[in-house]
Order: sequence, then structure tokens, then C-alpha cells
Amino acid sequence: MSRFWSQRTRELDPYVPGEQPKDSQYIKLNTNENPYPPSAQVLQAIQQASNGDLRLYSDPNADELKQTIADYYAVEKNNVFVGNSSDEVLAHTFVALLKHDKPLLFPDISYSFYPVYCRLFGIDYQMIPLSEHFDIRLEDYAIPNGGIIFPNPNAPTGKALDLPTIEAFLQQHPDSVIVIDEAYVDFGADTAIALVKQYNNLLVTQTFSKSRSLAGLRVGFAVGDAELIAGLERVKNSFHPYALSREAIAGASASIKDTESFESNRQKIIKTRERITPLLEQLGFSVIPSSANFVFAKPPAGYTAEQLYQQLKQQNILVRYFNAPRIDEYLRITIGTDDEMDALLQTLRTIQT
Ligand SMILES: Cc1ncc(COP(=O)(O)O)c(C=O)c1O
Repeated sequence: MSRFWSQRTRELDPYVPGEQPKDSQYIKLNTNENPYPPSAQVLQAIQQASNGDLRLYSDPNADELKQTIADYYAVEKNNVFVGNSSDEVLAHTFVALLKHDKPLLFPDISYSFYPVYCRLFGIDYQMIPLSEHFDIRLEDYAIPNGGIIFPNPNAPTGKALDLPTIEAFLQQHPDSVIVIDEAYVDFGADTAIALVKQYNNLLVTQTFSKSRSLAGLRVGFAVGDAELIAGLERVKNSFHPYALSREAIAGASASIKDTESFESNRQKIIKTRERITPLLEQLGFSVIPSSANFVFAKPPAGYTAEQLYQQLKQQNILVRYFNAPRIDEYLRITIGTDDEMDALLQTLRTIQT
């Protein structure tokens, strides 16, 4: 702690990202990255953008990318906001749309960045406990609030709500902005983007980091009513006008256009998830049925999640363990390639014998 730190800085409790080892000896199943590389088309677009024009600033409005996303989701360009990762899009959302007199509501078990942003931006919040079976229940949110945010599918549980339930949230809270963080939606849930035209209090955020294999490019976006988007633009243009690099705009646009690779990639991951879930259960794990590119699994009796995390790490397999109330008995395991998941299962068998 330095005496030069502001009071706000002293009070922060920063987000701790999953480990990113510098060597590649690990099978990385800890940060929900995609095990498959971006397609040749996407890589080519990024490489082509790496030219002498880099001396010039990128398009501050990222029009090419916004239009591509708008066409893909059948909305207008002014319904689309883009940012340098969905974490950044979320940060702007907290400032622009979720800071009000009444508390922001989100689940107690959810993306752990939400309370971090609340502290950073001085937003009052209330965490609503998930049910015993880790469900988000509409009735628990029927209290005065300055906004609601949750991931769908939720993280780290992998559980998804259906669209009628999302719509019930929107109808129950016509005077609050409801943010649906769809970081994992492509792996098994329905996007709420189609509801944006009907509900001016809905903002949907997505990322290119998971289903589009571009965690390293740092691109995210939001879709919502044009006035919500205009609010996000005001904050972004007060913070970082050239949020996306030339490479990011080109690569992300190419990714949206390359529907074939996107489809086959996400289907592969879903298939692997469905294959390994019963195999983990055979090893004694309780696995929550997942709609995401990870599973949340409770180790068999006789093993604590923390021990197992350590033992797997010693065998060069990284999974995610959260030392936090209610979830410290679980491991979050990202779905890797079939070979990586077979290596995990084999290692778990040797640990158990
Ligand atoms: C629920 C959720 N939202 C948002 C993000 C942020 O993704 P990114 O900043 O890579 O776009 C993550 C990343 O793990 C996440 O789990």
C-alpha cells in the first residue's frame, strides 16, 4: 500500500484471473478458452490488417464490425456497441446503465467481476442467493433495484434460463435495465437478442473469447435499444474512443462472417461436453448439467476440490478451483479437445487408485 493511493484504490478488491502459465506444458482447462484455434479466414483477416496503416488510428466507431454484427442478428447498427473485450463492455455498462440510487442485483454465485466493478465505480449492490440447486429464481428478484445482471448460462454453474423466464424478468422490472451476460450462450442456451426490439430495458452482452476462439484478440459487444447503446457510447467516448485495434475489427468481422467454422467448432465442444459428463459421473463426480463450455463438478467422497485441483496441477492439468462460500466443493473444468479430456479422465483414474 502506498500513501499515494487514492481512497478508492485502497478499497479495491481486484478480480483474480485464472492462471495463465508462461510455458505450454499444461493442459489448460481453467479459463474457459476455446481449445481450437481461430479459422484460417479469421487469421488471414487479422494478418492482412497488420500493415502500414497501423500508423493510423483505428475507426473509433468500428462501423464495419458493428454492421456485421447487426446484419448477423437482424438488428440495426445503432443497436450494437463494441468494446475491447466483454469485460470492458460490462465496465461501461455498469457506469452508464447500472449505477443508480437503488442497489444493483446479481446472483451470489456468478461472474466474480460484478462486485469488483461495483466497488470500482461505487455502485451499491445486493447479491441474491441462488436456490439450493443453483437456480436463478425470478421471485427472488421482486425487490426494488437499480438494475439486474446475470450471465446466461450462469458461470460457474453452467445452468441456463429459457427465454420465457428472461422475458418474465423484463416484464417484472420495466423500470430497470436487465443485462444478460451471454459469454457462454453459443454452447447451449438461446440468445435474448431477439427480445431487444420489444424491450427497451434489455441489454445483451457477448464475447468473441469463448465460442469464437479469440480470447487473445479482446473483443466483446452489446446489443440493446438504441438509447441504451447511446449511453454506452457516451461512457466509452469519455474513456477510450479507439477501443478496438485495426486487427481486432478485421478479425472479429471475419469471425462473424465465417459461420461454417463457428458452427462446427461449437458443435465439437458441445459433443465433447456431452461425452465426458457421464464419464466424470462414472468416476464419482456430481456434474451439474451444463449449457456452457465448462462443467461444474463436485469430486467424489474422500476428495476435496482443493486437493484434487492441486493434484491435477502437479500432473500438469489446470482446472479452476474457487475458494469461496457455497462453491468451494466444486471444480470448474473447461471443455478442451477430446484428447485433453481423455488425459484428464486418465489422470483422475490414476489419482483415485
Ligand atoms: C460470465 C462472463 N462474462 C464475461 C467474461 C469476459 O470475457 P472477455 O472479457 O474475454 O470478453 C467472462 C470471462 O471469463 C465470463 O465468464
